[in-house]
Amino acid sequence: MKESSPIGIFDSGYGGLTVFRSIAEKLPDYDYIYLGDNARSPYGDHAFETIYQYTLECVEWLFSKGCNLVILACNTASAKALRTIQQKDLPSKYPGKKVLGVIRPTAEVIDSFTKTKKVGVMGTRGTVNSESYLLEINKFFPKIKVYQQACPMWVPLIENNEHMQPGADFFVTEYCNALINQSSDIDCVLLACTHYPLIMPKLTAILPAGIEILAQGEIVADSLVDYLKRHPEIESTISRTANKSFFTSGDSKTFDEHAAIFFGEALQSGKMK
Ligand code: DGL
Repeated sequence: MKESSPIGIFDSGYGGLTVFRSIAEKLPDYDYIYLGDNARSPYGDHAFETIYQYTLECVEWLFSKGCNLVILACNTASAKALRTIQQKDLPSKYPGKKVLGVIRPTAEVIDSFTKTKKVGVMGTRGTVNSESYLLEINKFFPKIKVYQQACPMWVPLIENNEHMQPGADFFVTEYCNALINQSSDIDCVLLACTHYPLIMPKLTAILPAGIEILAQGEIVADSLVDYLKRHPEIESTISRTANKSFFTSGDSKTFDEHAAIFFGEALQSGKMK
């Protein structure tokens, strides 16, 4: 019997489930394995070396489960670890395996969402300080001006399920104002953290009307569809029994209780061993 080779999807915690949800809708036939490093999340304020080490460990664990393709459904890991994994670890230790991130696919299409060519990027401190979005967007669209805002309180609020409480409004408003005060011409705000779609209703209410608020799920899913078409050598190795499994480095029961809000349906996870 052919061994299962699922697509691996990784995030520091729950946020990647918002991306996985869009991917599974677009590509329902493949097998998937999701890993959330909840025991060590949030990643946003960790040092570069720490984020790289944690991400590499999780990618290697997904490889050990048969994955030939892993998506880092986490902006912080994509910003801080992806390049080293792609340039150093894969060629020397895992030739033939692929790891993709979420920053490049988003940067590639951002132009179609802005008329003023002034884009706001909201992310974790790690993502913002890496300047990855500035660099990637300017590579593709040098005329776009990018304004960044770090939102360090949002992931902890979301991970603790406090994000829809009235108390969360203070931090949502504070970071939105700090972004908009940088330029009143911003007409597109990119949620450059896979957790942030969970606060979409609050963002829509607080950001000025007319601003497009962009979540990454669909963009990353479309980009994966395109990638698999262009890479039959990888696509042909992925098993197709429409199986989805979920793992966490944290507590499975807690993960299952929270994860449904992100994934849109109930699920049962196992403990990463
Ligand atoms: N969801 C992750 C992202 O997209 C990060 C959350 C964290 O700080 O761990 O950046």
